[in-house]
Amino acid sequence: MEALRAAMADAWRWVRANRVPLAVLGGSLALVAVFLLLFYAPPAAWIGRPQPIPFSHRLHAGVKAIACQYCHPYVESSNHPGLPPVAKCLHCHNYIITNHWWIREEHRYFNTGTPTPWKKVNYLAEHVLFNHQRHIRFGLECQNCHERIETMDRLKGKHFYMGFCIDCHTQKKVNLSCWLACHS
Ligand code: HEC
Ligand code: HEC
Ligand code: HEC
Ligand code: HEC
Repeated sequence: MEALRAAMADAWRWVRANRVPLAVLGGSLALVAVFLLLFYAPPAAWIGRPQPIPFSHRLHAGVKAIACQYCHPYVESSNHPGLPPVAKCLHCHNYIITNHWWIREEHRYFNTGTPTPWKKVNYLAEHVLFNHQRHIRFGLECQNCHERIETMDRLKGKHFYMGFCIDCHTQKKVNLSCWLACHS
């Protein structure tokens, strides 16, 4: 017991004698940890999924005020509104910032007939039937369901769960007994 206490007192004296280098070492380890965290934690998790071309809704739909339906025209008529083909980007970009690196990348997709491999960010369970048409005809805004996309550079992923559908259907007093209508 006596020996243990003496050993601990020794250790403590050693720590006190070396407190400056120990503090420096501790500080550097903490810095390294923060650096590794920033380096390896994917920024995509914070600001949205990276896309093959860094397309910005904030710039196009916000600053330049291009209508959503200009690029997503089938949203009212199809179950799969889809994403705009690169030819649509070139309607403008054949004239605007034509020498920009990413616009040259668009030309490369166009000239080789490769569809731009946009990554999907929204998910809905496979067995759910969702159609935009009724919702938009009713007068809902895109922002009711997609939040303020015109402020986002990169879109964050979103999972639509059933509660999301039911909450609004309850609130608007529309069909809730949609087991047949919504589930295939
Ligand atoms: C209706 C016209 C129009 C369409 C359609 C359009 N853009 Fe743009 N885009 C613009 C304008 C205007 C700018 C800003 C140019 C400037 O900075 O002077 C721009 C800028 C850009 C930039 C540069 C952004 C930056 O940070 O410098 C990229 C990349 C881009 N657009 C990609 C696309 C893609 C991909 C599509 C198709 C999905 C597309 N654009 C469709 C008008 C358009
Ligand atoms: C200039 C063309 C353009 C305009 C204008 C535009 N979008 Fe997009 N949109 C795109 C492109 C390209 C993508 C795919 C790349 C991405 O996700 O950023 C996309 C993706 C999306 C997606 C995600 C699809 C998915 O599940 O992956 C939604 C939702 C969307 N847009 C809604 C809107 C809304 C709402 C507006 C109007 C406020 C709008 N868009 C205006 C070109 C456009
Ligand atoms: C009532 C809610 C609601 C409204 C209003 C709404 N959306 Fe959607 N949107 C959804 C859901 C849910 C999905 C996911 C569907 C899927 O993945 O099949 C989706 C998916 C999308 C997609 C991706 C489609 C694809 O093929 O990948 C685009 C683009 C889109 N919406 C654009 C719009 C635009 C533009 C508007 C306004 C004109 C709009 N949405 C209004 C709920 C809505
Ligand atoms: C922001 C509100 C809102 C959200 C979110 C919403 N809906 Fe709706 N939905 C409505 C309204 C309003 C109507 C009624 C449209 C009409 O009467 O024409 C409707 C109608 C429908 C219909 C037609 C019902 C019928 O009587 O035939 C179906 C199917 C449907 N929604 C499915 C869904 C699914 C699936 C989701 C979730 C992915 C969803 N909705 C999310 C507001 C919403």
